Amino acid sequence: MRFLVTGGAGFLGSSLVESLVDLGHDVVVLDNLWRGEKGNLHAVLDRISLIEADACLPSSYSSIVDPHSIDVVYHLAAINGTKWFHEKPRLVMDVNINSTLRSLEFAENHRCRYVFTSSPEAYGESEKMPLGGDESAVFSASHHHQRHAYGASKYLGELAVHHAVRNGMDARIVRPFNGYGPRLLGNEYGQVVAMMINSALQDGVISVHGDGSQTRSLTYIDDLVQGMLASGLKNDAAGMCVNLGSEDEISMAELAKRIANLVEQETGQTVSVDFSEGYPGDSKRRLPNLFQAENTLQWKAETSLEDGLLQTLRSML
Ligand SMILES: NC(=O)c1ccc[n+]([C@@H]2O[C@H](COP(=O)([O-])OP(=O)(O)OC[C@H]3O[C@@H](n4cnc5c(N)ncnc54)[C@H](O)[C@@H]3O)[C@@H](O)[C@H]2O)c1
Repeated sequence: MRFLVTGGAGFLGSSLVESLVDLGHDVVVLDNLWRGEKGNLHAVLDRISLIEADACLPSSYSSIVDPHSIDVVYHLAAINGTKWFHEKPRLVMDVNINSTLRSLEFAENHRCRYVFTSSPEAYGESEKMPLGGDESAVFSASHHHQRHAYGASKYLGELAVHHAVRNGMDARIVRPFNGYGPRLLGNEYGQVVAMMINSALQDGVISVHGDGSQTRSLTYIDDLVQGMLASGLKNDAAGMCVNLGSEDEISMAELAKRIANLVEQETGQTVSVDFSEGYPGDSKRRLPNLFQAENTLQWKAETSLEDGLLQTLRSML
């Protein structure tokens, strides 16, 4: 089969692309390398077609050779990373909404299957758990903070996908719950696990946002890729919305403690944990509803947190 992966040079996209290539598929990656890197694709670079272009522009899709032969579009291009949501909310909205609309139009025009990578943040600050089913999205008043530039852009993306499905398109939605693993960005614009490991290694201190009681359901990259593959390869699943996450919740204070211990064991250096002010609008919990994943895709996260953290740490040493 032939796949288009937007955002395929990023954390999640590059591992998905590697797996698609390993399975013998033909892959076109469309990424402007805003946050992704060519180096993430080094193992497969000579076996894929990489188009360095903006997924928001219709003209970028004109570079795809033989577009009618694309079977599945995986749309992952987006601005991700909490610091960006607060610092550049209009960029987040622009890229996330326009890249979704343009890639969806491409898939519609060429009769491809479409997989939209949404997020649990599409539910905003909903306190109903598990998350990702029929409950309503809850967004605080827009003057409070800018965080939901991201979650609301994913919510609008989901609306666009459902509209396309109503018009007969084969489109699906996946929502990864806090992915982590090798290649996750650990700088100040990155995501939690890699940021904690990075600051433990660089500064010997892990700074936890708020009081650290907020929990997440961390999902290892290999499990996410298996779920993404299953979501895109399944027949007769138009309109499917699937949450890909682990049922094991961990508080951020506990996560920091475990990472500190692991870094101490692996490197011999001492690591302390402190607490700092967090971002507004951060959800207290994000536990996935796994009904679709388990019953429709027969998918379950298999990697233990212990193993996943160790693999991630070793990739960053
Ligand atoms: N990582 C997670 O835990 C997680 C959770 C929920 C949802 N998601 C979604 O999954 C997708 C991939 O996330 P990720 O963690 O790999 O992030 P990432 O930042 O590593 O990957 C996003 C990719 O999109 C590219 N990109 C950004 N703007 C672009 C543009 N205008 N045109 C073309 N490419 C562009 C970036 O260069 C990057 O390679 C995103 O849509 C994200 O919102 C990720």
